[in-house]
Amino acid sequence: MIIDLLIHSAAQLLTIPNGPQRGGALGELGLVEDGAVAILDGKIVAVGPTSDLRAQFTPRSTLDASRSVVMPGFVDPHTHLVWVGDRANEFEMRLAGATYMQIMNAGGGIMSTVRKTRAASVDQLAEETRPRLRRMLAHGATTVEIKTGYGLDTAAELRLWEAIARLQAEGPWDIVPTFLGAHAVPEEYKDREEAYVDLVVNEMLPAVSNQQSAISNTAYADVFCEEGAFTVEQSRRILERARVLGFGVKIHADEFVGLGGTRMGVELGAASADHVVFTPDEDIAALGKSNTVAVSLPPTPFGLAQKEYTPAKKFLDAGAILAIATDCNPGTGWCESMQFVVALACRYLKLTPAQALAAATVNAAFAIGLADRVGSLEVGKQADVLIIDAPDYRHIGYRFGTNLVKTVIKRGQVVAERE
Ligand code: NIG
Ligand code: FE
Repeated sequence: MIIDLLIHSAAQLLTIPNGPQRGGALGELGLVEDGAVAILDGKIVAVGPTSDLRAQFTPRSTLDASRSVVMPGFVDPHTHLVWVGDRANEFEMRLAGATYMQIMNAGGGIMSTVRKTRAASVDQLAEETRPRLRRMLAHGATTVEIKTGYGLDTAAELRLWEAIARLQAEGPWDIVPTFLGAHAVPEEYKDREEAYVDLVVNEMLPAVSNQQSAISNTAYADVFCEEGAFTVEQSRRILERARVLGFGVKIHADEFVGLGGTRMGVELGAASADHVVFTPDEDIAALGKSNTVAVSLPPTPFGLAQKEYTPAKKFLDAGAILAIATDCNPGTGWCESMQFVVALACRYLKLTPAQALAAATVNAAFAIGLADRVGSLEVGKQADVLIIDAPDYRHIGYRFGTNLVKTVIKRGQVVAERE
């Protein structure tokens, strides 16, 4: 059989099969030594030992992966990638002792990014975001979830949504869009939180859902359920309406205070509960019995120099599906590298490199509804493949601060290459 591409001779091929990998099953790599991947029409037609695949297929082109690891493209299931400006000044304020929430309550934080982002056109928003996506791709993320949430009025949120749709259409990446109109109560609604929730429910969600056809994948809606942001009851109102309108739902929960948002998300059948740092034990137990993914975002505590991280072992003991993501945003963690997320997860979540890699691929794909297409190297899935410049997969995590991704293949095409 003639194929388009054979990636061969990998020191270690990781297929990362059988997702989602729940609880104690996390960390199955499906490792094949001297492995190969056969690709036709952008899809995987076979994986296995190089000698077997060479005997079976006649490739039109080949990529030599000797002395390298071959693995699925990273899936980053939580980012806030569309924004304008930066918050380097707030980083310095935090180093001097101010907390994230103090800065936010004083009118900085999310609102300071909102002021700059509101002023931008769709063109400008796409231009600001594209280089970040390119860098993420070069670091191995071939699929990325992107939230709105720096518009916080209907027109601006729609501009962010459209910028996401435009970047999705450009490719080569896959993008999953999430509406996060309830990211903060904007200053013009100060002390009128319920009126802002009404706006999200009655105007923004319907307006965004009308534009949904512009975007191919499932769209999600999310809420920042936190002290100083939205209560559990407000979050429930928003997510219930979102569900009726056909959105999948997600929730930012337990980043600073465990309010019960995770349990509420589980009740609503949320695709994921994200952050999950200060999650109460009963919420962990509820999530562990559900298909709601616990998405941990280690760059956030790291970015805030906070000592508490997701208690990953408790989640795994409860049988949860655990994924990891960058949370890339200008406030708490401007991190564009899923490799660095793996490094943090090994140290602070106490995951093994194998567990962290599965959390960053196959389980992450499940968290954004793309488990049938991406996240593992299995027959029939998209050929989203990384060639890693290391002879052993544990180098990802063990080493950090260097981009180990040599070649990025998206739907069977080389889309990024390290010089
Ligand atoms: O996930 N928690 C809310 N949202 C982001 C931070 C956004 C910002 O500070 O701009 C987060 O950490
Ligand atoms: Fe976030």
